[in-house]
Amino acid sequence: MTKREVKERIEALKKEIDKYRYQYHVLNKLDISEAALDSLKHELKKLEDQHPDLITPDSPTQRVAGEALKGFKKVHRKNPMLSLEDVFSPEEFKDWLLRIQKLVPGKRLNFYCELKIDGFAVSLIYKKGFLETGATRGDGKIGEDVTQNLRTIEAIPLKLAIENELPEGINEKKVKEIFDKGEFEVRGEVFMTKKVFEKVNKEQSKRGLQMYANPRNTAAGSVRQLNPKITASRELSFLAYDLVTDVGQIKHSQEHELLAALGFKTDELAKECSSVEDVVSFWQHVQKIREKLPYHIDGVVVNVNDNRLFEQLGVVGKTPRGAVAFKFPAEQSTSVIKDIIVGVGRTGTLTPIAILDPVNIGGVIVKRASLHNMDEIERLGLKIGDTVIVERAGDVIPDVVSVLPKLRPHNAKVFHMPKNCPICGHAVSRDGVAYKCVNKNCPAIKREGLYHFVSRSAFNIVGLGPKILDRFYEEGFIKDAADIFKLKEEDIVQLERFGEKSAENIINSIRSRKKVPLERLIYSLGILHVGSETAHDLARHFKSIEKISKANLDDLRAVPNIGEIVAKSIHEWFNDVNNKKFLEKLLNVGVEIENPKISAGSEKLKGKSFVFTGELESMSREEAESKVRQLGGDPSGSVSKKTRYVVAGSNPGSKYEKAKKLGVKIIEEKDFLKLIK
Ligand code: IVH
Repeated sequence: MTKREVKERIEALKKEIDKYRYQYHVLNKLDISEAALDSLKHELKKLEDQHPDLITPDSPTQRVAGEALKGFKKVHRKNPMLSLEDVFSPEEFKDWLLRIQKLVPGKRLNFYCELKIDGFAVSLIYKKGFLETGATRGDGKIGEDVTQNLRTIEAIPLKLAIENELPEGINEKKVKEIFDKGEFEVRGEVFMTKKVFEKVNKEQSKRGLQMYANPRNTAAGSVRQLNPKITASRELSFLAYDLVTDVGQIKHSQEHELLAALGFKTDELAKECSSVEDVVSFWQHVQKIREKLPYHIDGVVVNVNDNRLFEQLGVVGKTPRGAVAFKFPAEQSTSVIKDIIVGVGRTGTLTPIAILDPVNIGGVIVKRASLHNMDEIERLGLKIGDTVIVERAGDVIPDVVSVLPKLRPHNAKVFHMPKNCPICGHAVSRDGVAYKCVNKNCPAIKREGLYHFVSRSAFNIVGLGPKILDRFYEEGFIKDAADIFKLKEEDIVQLERFGEKSAENIINSIRSRKKVPLERLIYSLGILHVGSETAHDLARHFKSIEKISKANLDDLRAVPNIGEIVAKSIHEWFNDVNNKKFLEKLLNVGVEIENPKISAGSEKLKGKSFVFTGELESMSREEAESKVRQLGGDPSGSVSKKTRYVVAGSNPGSKYEKAKKLGVKIIEEKDFLKLIK
């Protein structure tokens, strides 16, 4: 970039960040994620580091204070509420440790690690044992008095009492003295559980109001609320993590124990760790179970578990040196769209794919993101050259969540869907939101069909992935999926990079799948609109491929869960000459179909539909669904009035609420086990 371009980029970034800063810190609402905002700040910081002469006093990187809302009394603190330095990887964590170890040479450091709840920090002051003042963090020193609101949170005791035995080393006399005469200060996090958040948002949408972005903002908005009745309706929670008052504690972990003894909710997963490895494995463990927790967390807080050393380490700016936020890698980031290319899927659908400036999201380098279809590009208002927010969830291909139009360069280009298939050149036609290549012999469609045929829910041929299939296809060994069963070891061995052993493995793998359950065969055919569920429905209803292929539209419509469009698609597929030939070929190459066996008594759940929510203890959801199917029942993904049972495991989701509302019978896992016995 030229100096002028850098300057322009810095100005644009500053404006954009400041807009979101205002949304976030003053209005308690943020249109983009914190991670995305962080990544904009990161880009700004980097540019300013490279060009220090372009730093201005109004840059967000130069900001230190926050603003208090009007309408609340101010609370001045003796001990400011600090914040934490962030580290994002084990390496950065080790650097932090090396840095602080140098300040306390020869001292053995132990740590107390706890979850970093994604909520809203408050301080609670109890005078003579009664809750007197509850305040927000504000700028640390001066917060807002939100006592009336915090009093509505049931997890916050209004009066202190010794509920359980005090931990060792805590002076009971001193505690009682404080309860009688003194002041006691507790700090912690106000938060909203995932479940309550869903409920609140549903309520918002029912009333036609704007939905909230995440539980954190909703919790913050509910606390900084002039009407305590609204706060009360939000069912907030509170977790205590810090005790400011000295009652003889020498370790941070003792503060947790004491707070728990006084009836505060504390982090039950918190753990003492004595080495870097311990801390890192705790961090990894928490990252794994994070989805299952009832509330959002964004990392682990690591505290030096010796209060004297903690004091000795001191404070830099607003952060203590003796603690650190060991954050999980961000799942969102910003990037720039370099280009949009078009892929062709199994059904011929053209999918636009964004080529990105590579970014590291949660430890993975992301170079592409799915744009789904033309409607989505229009909805996003996206042009080539735009800065966008990219999100990665699990292993799936990342998504473009939104565009930051203020950062659009002058030469941004509008994207058009090609008029011809980028693979075979055949004319493209429009089908609803989709643009499709309708050439049945398009090589892209053929290849995708092959990948689908061997995939896990279809023939599940292990070891025969896309790369190998591509190779066989290019060599002319396979022209359609049936040819897979004609492959010979001798052919494969001739190819470069294939040894005897790997050829043998592939052939064995193929052979082991020659016998195929009917529902898998149906799914493998790649019929438009026929997923795994529909394939099961068809298999259960017709019980053989001959009967399905002879079924007319009325027969097909009579199958449970199959409507007009799906029936038509199935009918068309089985009446296509080429498809008929293909099915015949499959049988000729030795594929053996296993038709569903319905043994006596196995129709026990016939006509009954089941929906599962939450986690089951004794089996996975897939196993439970397959059990239901075996017994003639009908597993389904969503609750309706027609649902016979909702089976609720632990941490049930929104389906549970829906079932309650519709009056659908909710049963526990143990009841379900009785039903299928
Ligand atoms: S200790 C010196 N422990 O994270 C600051 N903070 O980034 C003392 N937070 O303002 C904070 N869970 O809102 C601490 N277990 C925990 C926490 C936690 C969430 C929040 C808190 C704090 C921010 C610091």
